[in-house]
Amino acid sequence: MEQSIESFIKNLVRDTIVHTLGELQIQSDRQTYVIANWKMNNTLSTTAEFFQKINSSKDVSVVVCPPTQLLYPAHLFIKQFGKPIHLGGQNVHWAEKGAYTGESSTNMLKDVGCEYVIIGHSERRQFAGEDDDLVNLKVKQTIKDGLIPIICIGETLGQKNSMQAEHVLSTQLVGALKEIDSSNLIIAYEPVWAIGTGQSATAELSQQTHAYIRSVLKQILGEKADQISILYGGSVNESNAAEYSAMPDIDGVLVGGASLNPQSFDGIINVFAKGEQR
Ligand code: PGA
Repeated sequence: MEQSIESFIKNLVRDTIVHTLGELQIQSDRQTYVIANWKMNNTLSTTAEFFQKINSSKDVSVVVCPPTQLLYPAHLFIKQFGKPIHLGGQNVHWAEKGAYTGESSTNMLKDVGCEYVIIGHSERRQFAGEDDDLVNLKVKQTIKDGLIPIICIGETLGQKNSMQAEHVLSTQLVGALKEIDSSNLIIAYEPVWAIGTGQSATAELSQQTHAYIRSVLKQILGEKADQISILYGGSVNESNAAEYSAMPDIDGVLVGGASLNPQSFDGIINVFAKGEQR
């Protein structure tokens, strides 16, 4: 029997709504993050200036990771200026407490207002000898204590050139997530050759790599993998941010150099707040 025009239109409207809601569902499943990694930069006064100038958006979770000494002042400035900005550490120890000179525990980070912590940044892997086992211990302690780990993975230029990137990334993921059954974590894909070099990975390459990372996460965590935000990091700035934000598997960015300048960092937040064509 032929469909009446009326029922044809009804069905069309219903299909469009279902499709749109489906898309919205896909988009809203994962949180979008713009995260600042200040590394060993800034002072009390530049920290105050930063939080005074920076804007935030309800559509994006903005997380700032200052050096340890600036965490508590940063927490106070965030409160003082009334900004919905979250705080993260740049590193944490795997033990609850004890004789570990110069280290900070998860409880100490929480005490000064942190909700997040970067783990396994390539600079720490390189300069502090952090390997996947140590990263795994830190991730476990962090999740156990209710902080969200931002787990950094990435291949070096040599590994990329010798077609080892996927092997390196999957090894780092499997190592970091050993005995972990939680989606309460963030993955940051930071190709070592792109960090601080101005040679950012193209958005297309990052998208491909993020899709690969998600496929590995699926093997490790099953369906939970769909809820995990995967961020890109490595020479992100105001000019290239829009390319990343348009990619379906890039759920935000981890920003080093460009996060030291409040205007630039604000520009990046704005790009992700608009959501571009995601
Ligand atoms: P970059 O650093 O933005 O300066 O390249 C990124 C990072 O190391 O997290």
